[in-house]
Amino acid sequence: MSKTKIAPSLLAADFGNLQRDVEMVNHSEADWHHIDVMDGVFVPNISYGMPVVKAIAKHATKPLDVHLMIIDPDRYIKTFADLGAHVLTVHYEACTHLHRTLQAIKAEGMQAGVALNPHTNVSLLEDLINDIDVICLMSVNPGFGGQSFIENTYDKVKALKNLIAKKNAATLIEIDGGVTAGNAGKLKDAGADILVAGSFVFKSNDPNKTIAELKEMAG
Ligand code: DX5
Ligand code: ZN
Repeated sequence: MSKTKIAPSLLAADFGNLQRDVEMVNHSEADWHHIDVMDGVFVPNISYGMPVVKAIAKHATKPLDVHLMIIDPDRYIKTFADLGAHVLTVHYEACTHLHRTLQAIKAEGMQAGVALNPHTNVSLLEDLINDIDVICLMSVNPGFGGQSFIENTYDKVKALKNLIAKKNAATLIEIDGGVTAGNAGKLKDAGADILVAGSFVFKSNDPNKTIAELKEMAG
């Protein structure tokens, strides 16, 4: 079994020193750069858009894991492919024709991700799980960094793990929201493949060391 990936969320970075923080992730033990795009409609907050993603992409040396918290994401699939996204994740709750959206993401050469809000049951993905590269379980209500981890997530990871096995799928499980060194080990044991961490990394005294600590906990 491969080591759990760590994806620091740049939402918690210092935007006045974005290049510095992206380079910190480059030089750390992190695996991916997690990029949160919010539209103020699907979620009650606006984060940043294409010019900032472009600036991140210019300095990033690791795969870009782009998490779209926007309505009707089909409008921007090509744009994010052109910006260099490696994984493009859309929300189940934001897509009327999710199967079509996933095909469009793959047609642009990206890996296709689907994020589920805390209230969305994993069983809803049964009919298209073989088309999904990454399932992102939101362990907070999306929209803001720094929220507390929702404990029910452990049961969702286990249920999703069972569904992946039942359907003989190769889908990776990502956890997003409230991840700390306190829950990383338990999440890995439950079956998580990728851990996103924003505040815990960037608000720490030594973000590079904190990433190494997370990697160790989830290793
Ligand atoms: C929340 C975002 C997360 C967020 C995580 O809507 O999708 O990626 O940055 O931040 P923390 O780790 O602070 O909960
Ligand atoms: Zn995210």
